[in-house]
Amino acid sequence: MTTYITTPIYYVNAMPHLGHAYTTLVADTYSRYRRLCGDDVRFQTGTDEHGEKIVQAAESEGSTPREYVDRISDTFRHTWPTLAIEPDNFIRTTYPEHIKTVQDILQKVYDQGDIYFSEYSGHYCKGCERFLTEKELVDGTCPDHQTVPEEICEQNYFFRMSTYQDWLIEHIKKNPDYITPERYRNEVLSFLSEPLEDLCISRPVSRLTWGIPLPFDQKFVTYVWFDALINYLTGIGYPDGPDFEKYWSAAEHVIAKDILKPHAIYWPTMIQAMGLPPYKRLHVHGYWNVDETKMSKSIGNVIRPGELVEKYGVDTVRYFLLREMSFGLDSSFSEEAVIARRNSDLANDLGNLFSRALTMVGKYAGGKVPKVDAAALTDDDRELIDSMEKMIATYRVNMDAFTFHKALQAVWEVIGLLNRYIVTNAPWELATAPDKSGRLDTVLYFLTESLRILALVLRPVMPVAAGKMAAALGMEDTMAAATLDTAGKWGVFEPGMSVNKGPQLFPRLETKKKQQTPKKQKKKKSRDAESVDGEGLITFDQFGKVELRVAEIVAAEKIKKADKLLKLTLKAPRERTVVAGIAKYYQPDELVGKKVIIVANLKPAKLMGVTSRGMVLAAKEKDGEGVERLVLSTVDADIAAGSRVA
Ligand code: MSP
Repeated sequence: MTTYITTPIYYVNAMPHLGHAYTTLVADTYSRYRRLCGDDVRFQTGTDEHGEKIVQAAESEGSTPREYVDRISDTFRHTWPTLAIEPDNFIRTTYPEHIKTVQDILQKVYDQGDIYFSEYSGHYCKGCERFLTEKELVDGTCPDHQTVPEEICEQNYFFRMSTYQDWLIEHIKKNPDYITPERYRNEVLSFLSEPLEDLCISRPVSRLTWGIPLPFDQKFVTYVWFDALINYLTGIGYPDGPDFEKYWSAAEHVIAKDILKPHAIYWPTMIQAMGLPPYKRLHVHGYWNVDETKMSKSIGNVIRPGELVEKYGVDTVRYFLLREMSFGLDSSFSEEAVIARRNSDLANDLGNLFSRALTMVGKYAGGKVPKVDAAALTDDDRELIDSMEKMIATYRVNMDAFTFHKALQAVWEVIGLLNRYIVTNAPWELATAPDKSGRLDTVLYFLTESLRILALVLRPVMPVAAGKMAAALGMEDTMAAATLDTAGKWGVFEPGMSVNKGPQLFPRLETKKKQQTPKKQKKKKSRDAESVDGEGLITFDQFGKVELRVAEIVAAEKIKKADKLLKLTLKAPRERTVVAGIAKYYQPDELVGKKVIIVANLKPAKLMGVTSRGMVLAAKEKDGEGVERLVLSTVDADIAAGSRVA
């Protein structure tokens, strides 16, 4: 199959921001996804460079329009790779081949009688660069720009859009997927329930010279939409380039709701007048607001994608945008929300799963994918295979429907299941079980096989992290050529293949709030300490005598004849030995590298012949059946060994 996916071509009167980045990211993710399905894909973006707004922007900078458009177009072009967005083609409306194609199309449509000359008077909105109908005005102003349109009366050329109204209604009704989500399809059908007016497609050169001259009347230039929309054709070599043949029938456009009408009404009717088959699908998304407010230069809350990537990394930004927005609805952006997603979904859920699983394969299976004991699968194993297969199916349906957040939800459900699978199957216990059956190997195989599938389905969304996952799994080369049909199923990993631990994918980030709390808490605590002196309570001063520190476990070993005790070598920051009664709950090699909290100023004590200098803190509970559980107290994010705990 072929796929042709496009973004709007962006006006060069503004620098790339979060909104542009989102649409382009969606198109990039979809193009990567369709490649994963084995499609031959063409992905196009670009810049829209004619019109009054551009002339004004250039003038305000003291540049010529040509210098100005070259500069800003370049900024757009260079922004996309920073987000790992890789279009196959970047089109500019000032390219000579585009100008020629626009003129050829205008001539053809004019010759067949679908463009005529007439006088027009109406409400012209400079922001929209078009005449608004009476119905569109709200209290006499343009609802999008909150400005009163200019009353203009002039002679112009018009496209007979009304001729194609009935055809368009019929086409939309017959093809429920033509415009999605459904709310936008309904909006278009409702607009089409009224008679459609013809479309003004020119500007006199007395008012605008920065445009494409009409081939049949040099006193006029084209109106922006009849120029801009045609980029989708010129980019693939219309009318006789080989790519046009190949890709046009597969065309899918992604836009936000602001340019629904040009794409859902002007464009299909123009295509129909040209005698071409309609595009395949139009995908319409909502707006990104910032902290619940519209993003705008004057408010000063415009989010620049480059800055976000610098702060949070490309995969976090991509994941956040796709996971957070329900495609079609508006969403609110905040950095707190980015950090929350990063820490919970990426660091905790995915990152931990990845490093725990591969560390254990290294430790217990010598870094090789082990064999499965197929005859001895448990219900847990079968549930995992089943959930993995269901996840792949749900993922495909939702990626195809542009409901990326739902596709990711399905992936994260499986990640949760895998984290629970580790806890319930406790490989560290299986590793010490006396009858070393094949169970440990099976569990480790299930984990590596699951990671392989995760690396595959996450590739369109987080190409960099998925690449790191694939490299750690020793599949860098094979992954690049893998498709969902060949690799998106259970049981592909060959036992015996080498895997390595790989990097930490997503280190936790500190939240702004967390950075503030220690100060606030300190104040509160000292007030509390002054006001209480009840029995069993200690004063702030008393508590202050306890020296708590973060310590890194650098070695751990069992102590002979003491089945409850482990001898720990800790760095805090100098090395010291501490004896801890945790042998029932932790295996020595699981502990190395953990950062725990210790009481550092405890008097030394000798336990089973070992001098212990300090005490490790842990939390303990009993479950309903009286079984004790203990977990070590650790720190919430990475911090230097020896740091004071206050
Ligand atoms: N040049 C026209 C499009 C011509 S396409 C043949 C244009 N350009 S634009 O620079 O204004 O880009 C509009 C598009 O930018 C939206 O449709 C959307 O893709 C993106 N966004 C701009 N602001 C946005 C948000 N605040 N939120 C989400 N996307 C938004 O219109």
